[in-house]
Amino acid sequence: AYWGKGRSRLDFTPIKPVGMTVDDFNVPENYDWSPIIRWGDPLFYDAPEFDPKNQTPESQSKQFGFNADYLDIIPDPNGLTGVLVNNHEYTNENTMFPTGEQEKNLANVVRTAMAAHGMSVVEITRTKVGEPWSYVRGGARNRRITLSTPFVVDGPAAGSDLLKTQDDPTGKRVAGTQNNCSGGVTPWGTVLSGEENVHQYFITSGTSEEKRYGFPTTMPSRRWPEVEKRFDARIEGYKNEPNRFGWIVEIDPQNPNSAPVKHTSLGRFKHEGANVHVGDDGTVVAYSGDDEKFEYIYKFVSSRKYKEGDKRHNMKLLSEGDLYVAKLTGNSPKGQITGDGTLPADGEFDGSGEWLPLIKGGKSMIKDMAVDEVLVYTRLAADKVGATKMDRPEDVEPNPHTGKVYVALTNNSDRGKPGFAPVDEANPRTGNRDGYVLEFTERHGRVNSTRFNWNLLLVCGDPTKDSGTYFGGYPKEKVSPISCPDNVAFDRAGNLWISTDGAPSKIGYNDALFKVGLTGSERGRVQQFLSVPQDAETCGPVVHDNEDMVYVAVQHPGEDGSFEEPRSYFPDYVLPTRAGEGEFSMPRPAVVQVFKLERDKD
Ligand code: FEO
Ligand code: CA
Ligand code: CA
Ligand code: CA
Repeated sequence: AYWGKGRSRLDFTPIKPVGMTVDDFNVPENYDWSPIIRWGDPLFYDAPEFDPKNQTPESQSKQFGFNADYLDIIPDPNGLTGVLVNNHEYTNENTMFPTGEQEKNLANVVRTAMAAHGMSVVEITRTKVGEPWSYVRGGARNRRITLSTPFVVDGPAAGSDLLKTQDDPTGKRVAGTQNNCSGGVTPWGTVLSGEENVHQYFITSGTSEEKRYGFPTTMPSRRWPEVEKRFDARIEGYKNEPNRFGWIVEIDPQNPNSAPVKHTSLGRFKHEGANVHVGDDGTVVAYSGDDEKFEYIYKFVSSRKYKEGDKRHNMKLLSEGDLYVAKLTGNSPKGQITGDGTLPADGEFDGSGEWLPLIKGGKSMIKDMAVDEVLVYTRLAADKVGATKMDRPEDVEPNPHTGKVYVALTNNSDRGKPGFAPVDEANPRTGNRDGYVLEFTERHGRVNSTRFNWNLLLVCGDPTKDSGTYFGGYPKEKVSPISCPDNVAFDRAGNLWISTDGAPSKIGYNDALFKVGLTGSERGRVQQFLSVPQDAETCGPVVHDNEDMVYVAVQHPGEDGSFEEPRSYFPDYVLPTRAGEGEFSMPRPAVVQVFKLERDKD
């Protein structure tokens, strides 16, 4: 999230890494935290209170959804009100519902889970700038977007035969969004959200296109196709339903009545999210990663120009333009990339890159694929041009201060293993356990350049145990260990912030949030700011350093437990009594604000 430019005043002493069995939310000295909103909190006056033993789709569709992921906190100009926007990526039925509930009441569980997916827009308020926020029940802009919210399809593939179903012969209207992972706020104030692992809700007949996208041919564990027929793509009238998910969606959080849009111009794949940058001439680009092992990094370039203050116009910018995929080439001689993290002779994993066109000037650049085929089956198009297979591209986000782009490559246990793609200079470790952060610079500083230079800023891991780690040249003994980078953000001073997903099983520490310097003697300095509770993932960091405030979404706390035997009591921490009886709080994904206790005087 972008929060202007200026001096950062968010000073802190890094916390120590926290062991993976600690069920607590840890912040630096002189900071405290509180949840703003939790799964199940009522958004509307007529919404029922959270009642985990009596969940229904009707109640859940009026309450904050599950598994909080992408987050933004967008204050109004007065600084005292604003909106919180959050993705609800997926559901953990094992912690949400009593054991056996799915067997007993399948339709209720499935439809409740559908209503727990999607997005929330929630008004927030506070009495003084810099103070913690509260959410507003019944706020005028409050909105739930779920699997039943009507979406408009736009761009060149709208109306394509590949998007038509028996429920939607126009191919231009889709019910709902799902598996919304990360995202980004645009300079015109809308929010982009990535539909990521959409395969896991369907059963399909297993066409080659379905296989390339990982759609299963057996009943998925959530059993949605048994309750809602459109998720059974073996049925002739629903064979295209899978094609209607896997897009970047755009919503206007200021207007609860606006129709959310699925943008086909940005291609269809397992979008982590999308982030926009405006070039000097008003050209808008959107970067997006396809988060799966050996998938690609993409760039969309708008054909229209950004117009300051003209939201109606700007909301069409992602409707028409060119689509590219990245090819990265290393500059070190063959044989220097050994797979163990040893730096090549020039001291860096680095090189040059090329954006290979898939769609240009409204035309397909792929032989034997029409425009709509390139956009619906973008992975197949990218395969044909020889794009570089990366180690799971998560967030791909331009630094608003410099235009340099940062890519979290979270991990890839199969890299370099027999039968899989070998290591290369951009993906230099065999069985990449801990991930990388890639930095790239568009040539001549132009957003629409087709060439770029790149380097690995971080080769992640625990430097005390792993000599193959690299921290942008910063002394290794002085950094916090970091593993599995996922979401990134920037503060006002242009520092990078990274949240992680999966660190416990890799380096034995809870997932966390880190600040990383990018320039001068601070480059590569990784400092841990917070850690999340047991089994949770840190998502959607938002850094408002001018107010000494940091926000994160805490996803799937205690996910390896059950409804009856929770492994986390976050965020309320009502613990069972010594006798094991009485009330205790269940783990609830939540949006957390971290604030300073003793504030600097302005
Ligand atoms: Fe949903 Fe790529 O993490
Ligand atoms: Ca090199
Ligand atoms: Ca993610
Ligand atoms: Ca992830």
